[in-house]
Amino acid sequence: MRTVAVIGAGQMGSGIAQVSAAAGYHVYLSDLKLDLAEKAKANVGKALNRLVEKEKIGTQEAEITLGRIEPVSGYEKMSDADLIIEAATEKEDIKRKIFEDVGKVLGHQAILASNTSSIPITRMAQASPDPARFIGIHFFNPVPIMGLIEVIKGLATSDATVKTVRDFCGALGKEVVFAEDEPGFVVNRILLPMLNEAVFVLGQGTANIIDIDKGCRIGLNHPMGPLELADFVGLDTCLDIIMVLYNTTGDSKYRPAPLLVKYVEAGWLGRKTGRGFYDYSGTVPVPTR
Ligand code: 3HC
Repeated sequence: MRTVAVIGAGQMGSGIAQVSAAAGYHVYLSDLKLDLAEKAKANVGKALNRLVEKEKIGTQEAEITLGRIEPVSGYEKMSDADLIIEAATEKEDIKRKIFEDVGKVLGHQAILASNTSSIPITRMAQASPDPARFIGIHFFNPVPIMGLIEVIKGLATSDATVKTVRDFCGALGKEVVFAEDEPGFVVNRILLPMLNEAVFVLGQGTANIIDIDKGCRIGLNHPMGPLELADFVGLDTCLDIIMVLYNTTGDSKYRPAPLLVKYVEAGWLGRKTGRGFYDYSGTVPVPTR
């Protein structure tokens, strides 16, 4: 495998492009407009420069890695990609449209993957040209730091596809866990009910933001408290995932916390909008309640 394409140049897509380029792959990075993909490449450049400053990599390695990332608009160039990873927004209709469009140029041996956090792989595979070559590759944020990738096999995914993807994840230096195609897979199935519950705890006035986060950070030895982490993931993404769990299982234990819904309706989506459960406009995050 030589060439990887990443569709969606947001936080996850940029991180996937960075680690793929660092592992030696040529990377097409695309977004709706070329300038968004170019900006994402510039941000990867900044991240690589920080690694140079910390003496984790040399200047030449950073330059070579960055040089492997090719911002593109549209999908034509991806016809020679061995692996295409969709990392667009967590909306099934948007993802399906991408699979239909990019499916027209997908090489005969190439694999199409989704970085979905929770949407069923078997169902989305129906929008791809060959469900045997469709698979879930779920990265964790921040991609360059987190050591795990979840690999999710759809009902029709072939063993050859799983093997190629497992080897690719290994080449990125990540550990792999395999998950069946059940809602939320493994990690988000466990994580999201916890984040959602933290918002219930806040909404019911059991404790304030500081104490909820401090309790889990110190009491559970988690690097971030659940509200901090929800802001980091994005409250809209958290709501999207919990709604997938709720709608696909019909189990009321996954009902979204009303305060989470309100924050999303207010456009307070966490770090990316400058405000979620914390306000990020100053030098240190300040709790909003
Ligand atoms: N990108 C790249 N590197 C980053 C980074 C980022 N966004 N944020 C921090 N880092 C690096 C720092 O440069 C630093 O590197 P160094 O050790 O070489 O100096 C290292 O990470 C530690 O960073 P800091 O000292 O600044 O801060 P922390 O010690 O607080 O670590 C953190 C930051 C790594 C983000 C840590 O708080 C953490 O692990 N948080 C939990 C993250 C998590 O749970 N992610 C999974 C979310 S769920 C998910 O992604 C699934 C999705 O489907 C929802």
